[in-house]
Amino acid sequence: MKNLQVKLAQRPKGMAQAGDFLIENSEIPAIDEGQVLIKNHYVSIDPAIRGWMNEGTTYIPGIAIGSVIRAFAVGEIIESKNAQLSVGQYVGGLLGATSYAVSDGTGLDIIDTELGELPLHLGVLGMPGMTSYFGLLDKGKPVAGETVFISGAAGVIGTTVGQIAKIKGCKVVGTAGGKEKCDYLLSIGFDVAIDYKNEDVNLALKEHCPEGISIFFDNVGGEILDVALLNLARGARVVICGAISQYNNHTNIQGPKNYMKIVTARGEIKGIIVFDYLDKYSIAIKDISNWLKNKQLQPKNHVIEGLENFPDALKMLFEGKNFGKLLIKI
Ligand SMILES: NC(=O)c1ccc[n+]([C@@H]2O[C@H](COP(=O)([O-])OP(=O)(O)OC[C@H]3O[C@@H](n4cnc5c(N)ncnc54)[C@H](OP(=O)(O)O)[C@@H]3O)[C@@H](O)[C@H]2O)c1
Repeated sequence: MKNLQVKLAQRPKGMAQAGDFLIENSEIPAIDEGQVLIKNHYVSIDPAIRGWMNEGTTYIPGIAIGSVIRAFAVGEIIESKNAQLSVGQYVGGLLGATSYAVSDGTGLDIIDTELGELPLHLGVLGMPGMTSYFGLLDKGKPVAGETVFISGAAGVIGTTVGQIAKIKGCKVVGTAGGKEKCDYLLSIGFDVAIDYKNEDVNLALKEHCPEGISIFFDNVGGEILDVALLNLARGARVVICGAISQYNNHTNIQGPKNYMKIVTARGEIKGIIVFDYLDKYSIAIKDISNWLKNKQLQPKNHVIEGLENFPDALKMLFEGKNFGKLLIKI
């Protein structure tokens, strides 16, 4: 058996291409005292990986050329020289795009599969779920009856935010690309789904949200952010979670033109970085696992087989080809 690894060959210009990655087979690493060997079962494909491939530090340093691509993964401990961790335990963390990972336990989460099957710990019970929970509840502060508008609504974060907002008694409106994704949003409880590829989002918001948007949860940035600003209710909170429409731009990032609407709405723009909530994850996991049990949260996975497909899988996020939480099964 070999250890298949996906490494950063060079920094992408625009969309990451196959040539930006190096896919290598190496020996399965030996572990030292205090370490464990983990066999990864699923690697998470997240939009943030594209940002981590750039030069320099944002909220976390960029991936070094030649290193394994940073990615969340979940797997099973198959060898242990660490007294706190045992063979057979399921664990998760930033284990990387690799079939086997070595860890000394730092930053490693022990996974309780009773709370949800393994892939869910990379989705609603993992980093995206934590982002959705704290982004909406701590930054957005929803009040029952308010209107929440979500861009990129059919992704793991969009669907989770939307379903939590429904649990909190809000009206929920989202944008997604295409009829199939929009129909899916309605099927999981969204009140309105706008197909941004085929509809005028501004007109649709005026029609469906005459009361104005109290919370805009933005995953996309660019045009949609500008249109949302035009439709804010008084006291609105704009939560900037991401801007996937801009991640492949280096020099011409499109910022908001309509920012004066924040003034007239007496609104706020807030950013969220999920890692700031590490010490509160257990609170979110308790609520989210209860909502999963009660079927108030319905997760959806999109699973690709084989780590060698990592470069194509990452591209899918930026082409709207994923439908649900994108994962690679090893
Ligand atoms: N701040 C944090 O701590 C944090 C943590 C995790 C994630 N995030 C951010 O949260 C956002 C959502 O993440 P996710 O994991 O749920 O990913 P996701 O929504 O599944 O991302 C992929 C989707 O984005 C949409 N998209 C791609 N390019 C687009 C474009 N140019 N214009 C409009 N939509 C586009 C596509 O959906 P359509 O088919 O609908 O176009 C695609 O399926 C991302 O921006 C991510 O970076 C932030």
